Amino acid sequence: MTSEYQHLIDLNDYPVSWWNKLITLGKDIYRYPERYKGACSGKVMATLFYEPSTRTQMSFQTAMLRLGGSLIGFDNPSTSSVSKGENLKDTTKVVSSYADIMVIRHPVEGAAKAAAISAECPVINAGDGGHLHPTQTLTDMLTLTLEKGTLEGLTIGLCGDLMNGRTVHSLCKALSCYKNNKFVLISTKELTLPSYIKDILNVHNCEYTEISSLEDAISKLDVLYMTRIQRERFASEEEYLAQKNVYVLDKQKMKNARKDLIVMHPLPRVDEIEIDVDDDERALYFKQAKYGVYIRMALILKMLENKNPSPVLKGTTLKDICCHNPKCISNRELYLPKSFVKSGDIAECEYCDERILLK
Ligand code: NCD
Repeated sequence: MTSEYQHLIDLNDYPVSWWNKLITLGKDIYRYPERYKGACSGKVMATLFYEPSTRTQMSFQTAMLRLGGSLIGFDNPSTSSVSKGENLKDTTKVVSSYADIMVIRHPVEGAAKAAAISAECPVINAGDGGHLHPTQTLTDMLTLTLEKGTLEGLTIGLCGDLMNGRTVHSLCKALSCYKNNKFVLISTKELTLPSYIKDILNVHNCEYTEISSLEDAISKLDVLYMTRIQRERFASEEEYLAQKNVYVLDKQKMKNARKDLIVMHPLPRVDEIEIDVDDDERALYFKQAKYGVYIRMALILKMLENKNPSPVLKGTTLKDICCHNPKCISNRELYLPKSFVKSGDIAECEYCDERILLK
């Protein structure tokens, strides 16, 4: 199914050169914001937030307003026709016909791709369940570029809910494409990085280690990326409570870290970073949230150029095969075409990346 629009569903749909150009534009906007005033005058952005959000939603809105554009949308589907039972296709088809660009966050994996199939404007994935969060990764890459001066040769510790944290998944996928990055995956055995992301690290020959102790890891890191335990993605409260508070970054642990470490966090923080760490000059997370506005301004400008329309679904349907992931949009919105990319005996769902062994 070919879309007439260029969407951002997964950063890896674009070459690294495209990301780099976007980061360069983000840096320019950060340095000279006045040059971009009015660049989107007369344009309308729709923000459809089916899941809670503070930073992603407001930084997109700020970005569009600073570019001179206008906003429509909802941040609470219960006040829209979604509460009457409207499906994702109908909502996105109509809203995208009102807007020039649409940003969507949804609790179900693959929902942004599903929305793009019927959209009449470019669609940006602002988080699809526990799957991906490409614009947080762009924010993280701008932060690394401005604060570390490079996206290469870094030792990056990722700590917390690596299983459900979509920001971690997108960041690992992206940074594995730059030279000589090493990953230290700090989690409990219940919340390790999904194997499909580890496979991507392997394909790119990235060195990675999995360890359970933040104390042991911290002294070796250039970057520590802390994450929240994703309460809303757990099957039960007991399972969440067993993971809560396992990792808490405090001043004591910071004493063992390098002077040039930077601590990042996509936010919101719950209790995984103690408040008094905020005063440490290595704590970069609030600055990181601010950089999100500049990179999103760059992204909106780029998406509105609409230079490279491409098919949304590139795979094929397979007779009698459905995705095995119950959290996949293709199992929730049943009108969607099932679509898989085949490689040998493995079929990968195009919406959520779940892999199915065919024999
Ligand atoms: C993250 C998200 O929504 O995935 N927040 C964000 O967008 N900045 C991280 C989280 O919710 O833990």
